[in-house]
Amino acid sequence: MQQARSPILELQGITKSFGGVEALRGVDFALYAGEIHGLVGENGAGKSTLMKIIAGVHPEFSGRFLVNGQETRFRSARDAHAAGIAMVHQELSVAPDLTVAENVFLGNQPTNRLGIVQWRRMAREAGEQLARFGINVDPMSRLGDLPIGLQQLIEIARVLFSGARIVILDEPTSALSPPEVERLFTTLRRLRDEGTGIVFISHFIEDILRVSDTVTVFRNGRKVAETASAATTKGALIEAMIGRGGEVLEHSYTDDLSLPKPSDGPVVLKVDQLSLARSLQDVSFEARAGEVLGIYGFMGCGQQELSRILFGKLKPDSGALIVDGAAKSFASTAAARRAGVALVPESRRAMLFHQEPVYKNVSISILDRISALLLKPAREREIAKHQVEQLQIRPPVVALDLGMLSGGNQQKVALAKWLTYPPKLLVLCEPTRGMDVGAKNDVINIVRDLRARGLAIIVLSTEPETVLSLADRILVLKRGALVREFTNEPVSKDRLLEAA
Ligand SMILES: Nc1ncnc2c1ncn2[C@@H]1O[C@H](COP(=O)(O)OP(=O)(O)OP(=O)(O)O)[C@@H](O)[C@H]1O
Ligand SMILES: [Mg+2]
Repeated sequence: MQQARSPILELQGITKSFGGVEALRGVDFALYAGEIHGLVGENGAGKSTLMKIIAGVHPEFSGRFLVNGQETRFRSARDAHAAGIAMVHQELSVAPDLTVAENVFLGNQPTNRLGIVQWRRMAREAGEQLARFGINVDPMSRLGDLPIGLQQLIEIARVLFSGARIVILDEPTSALSPPEVERLFTTLRRLRDEGTGIVFISHFIEDILRVSDTVTVFRNGRKVAETASAATTKGALIEAMIGRGGEVLEHSYTDDLSLPKPSDGPVVLKVDQLSLARSLQDVSFEARAGEVLGIYGFMGCGQQELSRILFGKLKPDSGALIVDGAAKSFASTAAARRAGVALVPESRRAMLFHQEPVYKNVSISILDRISALLLKPAREREIAKHQVEQLQIRPPVVALDLGMLSGGNQQKVALAKWLTYPPKLLVLCEPTRGMDVGAKNDVINIVRDLRARGLAIIVLSTEPETVLSLADRILVLKRGALVREFTNEPVSKDRLLEAA
């Protein structure tokens, strides 16, 4: 149907290397006005790299680049912006210290004739734009004080309403709950119908199939398939992505799954009537050794606050935490760690050091555990190497700076930190966010291995698939209260969504 028209964006024979690593090889890609184009591929396949070339972030590459049929070369993100291209990056790139309104208008604040920023107008318009997107938040609040999912929504809103004719969304739904994803898709379809060309990257293949008109598959820096969404299936896409049987790896969890009998291991953590103003009400549960407890709920249900309390970063108004039978106050993160609690938070930026090599990032948690032993760099690297192999981190080079890894591989490093000296209780927030189906499977196996070693594991997620794939028992958190427990019974995505 679009054959007759010419693309608004066309890339031919794109090759891009970082040092010795070839991230893209001979890639052709075209985007049409009024098209939603889905991109899928394993972690490190080159999706973000290609999009960053389009968005002017990587000016160095070889191949032809045409915008509206004109050969173009961007020197910076600013050039791309001027050409009507806007991108939501995989890693949240908001300015946490600015207000919501400033973030919405980042780089193009409304000014009067004297060049003075019109604050009131900016706040009002930001508020209106966000409300259209279903976000009700005070435009003058500091962005960094809002939950990650909300920050992500605000960034998406900024890009969608920037007036760009080409919009790139790199993993935009990772922190969103199902109703927000729906709202995003409605907005994307509307923009598409108004003639915007949209690129949508996701590891949720069902979402890709549902929202995009065309799908392109990347594998090892090459484009291996391009097809109309209507003419393909999830299994076929996964097969093209990784060359293994897709059905085995990716379940859709629409059918009932039966949860096992609850573990009779000792109670490692008892949470007793935890309350926190406006976030949590009388939350009580137990986590036992040898079980994976899933806590599911929509964004903003109180999960983030709960995890922060467990790790001593937030003080509850009332309630108690009992670890191995002894009440703990968890006055600090250090106290939580001493009690044997480890946390992998949802924002990987907060825990990782992009300018440091991979092995340092893996060993940092170990260092504060056994700093007295004065870990030698060689030993440090050796430990990291083992984790890199076990988690199949790509590329498997521990001396590489973390910032050079793809998003999904960085997430694996965040997990690797805790696997060398496992704690008693491991709290994982969104452990597989941004990972491809193969990597998710690796994480499932690692979590099962830790469970078999007798750890108590709590998995908090806003993705039904994540808790369904990992948990033995599932609690549903809704507006700060536990409303349902699934144990030793059938559960499915629908049943979870219904309870939440
Ligand atoms: N700034 C960089 N410096 C060095 N290497 C890089 C850089 N950015 C990406 N790479 C490498 O390029 C390859 C492609 O990475 P890219 O981020 O495009 O993958 P991706 O398909 O987006 O993966 P993911 O699903 O994990 O986000 C990877 O091998 C990665 O390590
Ligand atoms: Mg990426």
